[in-house]
Amino acid sequence: MNWSGRNVLITGGAGHIGSHLTASLLEKGANVRIADNLWRGKKEYLLDKTGKSIINLEKDFLELDLREMKNCEQAVKGMDTIFHLADVVAGIDFVFGNEAFVYRSNVLINSNMFEAARNEKLEKLAYVGAACAYPLEKQNDPNHPLFKEEDMYPAHPESSYGWGKLMGEYECELYSKSGLLDAAILRLHNVYGPNSDLSREKSQVIPATIRKAILHPEEDFLIWGNGEQSRAFMYVTDIVDALILSMEKGINKGPIQIGNSTKTTINEIADAVIEISGKNIEKKYDLTKPTGDLGRAADCSFAEEVLGWKPKVGLQEGLRITYEWAEQFLKSYPNICK
Ligand SMILES: NC(=O)c1ccc[n+]([C@@H]2O[C@H](COP(=O)([O-])OP(=O)(O)OC[C@H]3O[C@@H](n4cnc5c(N)ncnc54)[C@H](O)[C@@H]3O)[C@@H](O)[C@H]2O)c1
Repeated sequence: MNWSGRNVLITGGAGHIGSHLTASLLEKGANVRIADNLWRGKKEYLLDKTGKSIINLEKDFLELDLREMKNCEQAVKGMDTIFHLADVVAGIDFVFGNEAFVYRSNVLINSNMFEAARNEKLEKLAYVGAACAYPLEKQNDPNHPLFKEEDMYPAHPESSYGWGKLMGEYECELYSKSGLLDAAILRLHNVYGPNSDLSREKSQVIPATIRKAILHPEEDFLIWGNGEQSRAFMYVTDIVDALILSMEKGINKGPIQIGNSTKTTINEIADAVIEISGKNIEKKYDLTKPTGDLGRAADCSFAEEVLGWKPKVGLQEGLRITYEWAEQFLKSYPNICK
């Protein structure tokens, strides 16, 4: 697909995945507009190595709350294509402590954005669901085989975040099946890499673990639960590849799961991060904290068949790059953890 001169809206473009996607599409010659209310995204994620913003913040950055329909309408005006990534994403403690806020925000953002895109007659839209929406009982079954797309139903996500992501998939598929939108739906497993939130309030497990190692001994290296819960972690540039491929080959194909087949426990992540830090860190456990489901990993044969996609970046390499980025970022913005 030729991206040169294409007008692309990235909602949530100041966030973790969105900032990498922005950089990649700009390199391919697209005209990128970002709509983000900076709830968790940061303009600092949009800086190049020289400290200059990769997009024109005056013209191409719209600071908008996409829970409002009129803001979605403003964001899509004149666009050809939309990668819809905006939503309230955070660590497990925040999600379980703010279930109604998370659900309502994400349902409003998605519903408004699909309708605004349809009214503007956009050529294509990509939506991202989340693997944490798979039924809790299946995720807590240690003998469950690798997840396939059809394992989603009958639905029973553990959290309101999972329900919101699933309702987005459902609604997006309705628009796609009824011929109202040409839409690709990716269902992502856990993503990590540079430009991820490092704060104590909103960070997810890998950036939080890295922060704790960097700030050790000022911050305790605390693992929530016994550390034996597992996830199928993916490096962020692999997700950018999948998103771009989804526009080329994944339109109106239904949900496509994007993950990997290896389960990695939180203890394994912690050990790898400790080794990268070079510090003498003792793991401590807090069994009172929420841990989420027991574990999941992906059978990605559908993604391979439809998109020709496979993850490329190994965990050790991805963790090292993320650690180095986080160390630098915390030096430059020490107040980010408050
Ligand atoms: N990171 C993961 O592990 C993961 C896994 C599965 C799915 N996803 C999905 O991928 C997408 C991107 O996730 P991410 O990891 O980059 O998270 P992120 O928090 O870094 O990005 C989401 C962006 O949406 C913005 N946002 C939140 N509320 C908004 C609002 N009301 N109006 C406008 N913008 C708003 C945030 O400021 C942020 O920049 C999300 O839809 C998420 O559900 C992520």
